[in-house]
Amino acid sequence: MLSETSRIIRSVSDLSKSIDSFKKAGKSIALVPTMGALHEGHLSLIRLAKKNADVVVCTIFVNPTQFNDKKDLEKYPRTEEKDAELLNKEKCDIIFIPLMHEVYPVGHVPLKISYNGLDKVMEGDYRPGHFDGVVEVVARLFQMTRPDVACFGEKDFQQLAVIQELVAQHDFPILIIPGPIVREEHGLAMSSRNERLTAAQRSDASILYKTLNDMKKMAAFMNPDELASWGRDKISACECCELEYLEVAESHNLQPIYRWKETDSSRAFIVARFGEIRLIDNLQLLP
Ligand code: PAF
Repeated sequence: MLSETSRIIRSVSDLSKSIDSFKKAGKSIALVPTMGALHEGHLSLIRLAKKNADVVVCTIFVNPTQFNDKKDLEKYPRTEEKDAELLNKEKCDIIFIPLMHEVYPVGHVPLKISYNGLDKVMEGDYRPGHFDGVVEVVARLFQMTRPDVACFGEKDFQQLAVIQELVAQHDFPILIIPGPIVREEHGLAMSSRNERLTAAQRSDASILYKTLNDMKKMAAFMNPDELASWGRDKISACECCELEYLEVAESHNLQPIYRWKETDSSRAFIVARFGEIRLIDNLQLLP
């Protein structure tokens, strides 16, 4: 029988023993990597993981190598006790909270991938070095937890694409399962950063999802370029936020599209700042 209460593990050797014994017993392992400050979006990934494997390991590690903004790293919420309670309620089997020196031991050489253009658009362009840090930590988490499946949210759609490349290029025998975006009542995509928004900013931030939805409706009447400009104008007209980017891109390679004919699946991607808080969202436009 698997545990009724989540087990908190902090050392790689304890985790390794635990994973070995599950594997020996023929159990499959699912990984849900997180940086903590858990919300319903993360918990939906735990439920997805439970449906797809016998044992669920949730990792909590605020990874410094993926923060290109030091202030963002310092202010990233840390709520370990509350996170453990939530995971316990979801009957997550193992909560792995590794120490920095075990994730990045002295002499550790980061795994690299060839991005095939993914680092030249959107997050790659605006957050230099971010995906190198994501690849580095996710590869380490894969090595430490040895999962059969791993669940990642579609809110960070470009991250998901980068992780698919990591798995393919380094032959990790892991099935990546995407989890749909979970939204607050007025459409704002759930994010650990939402906690730092004021009540007014939180309400204003619903403009992101509203614009994405309006773009989906308008897609039949405009080409992708016109549609992206239309969306940018809508966001820019609002004084509540500062638009960083809004792009219409092909879902498979995230490259911009200029005519609908060029795509069988397109998405709109948006990032805007509400004060200091940078929010990200995306929505499938076609089909
Ligand atoms: O999406 C996140 O929370 C992080 O980028 C991840 C995948 C846990 C790596 O630190």
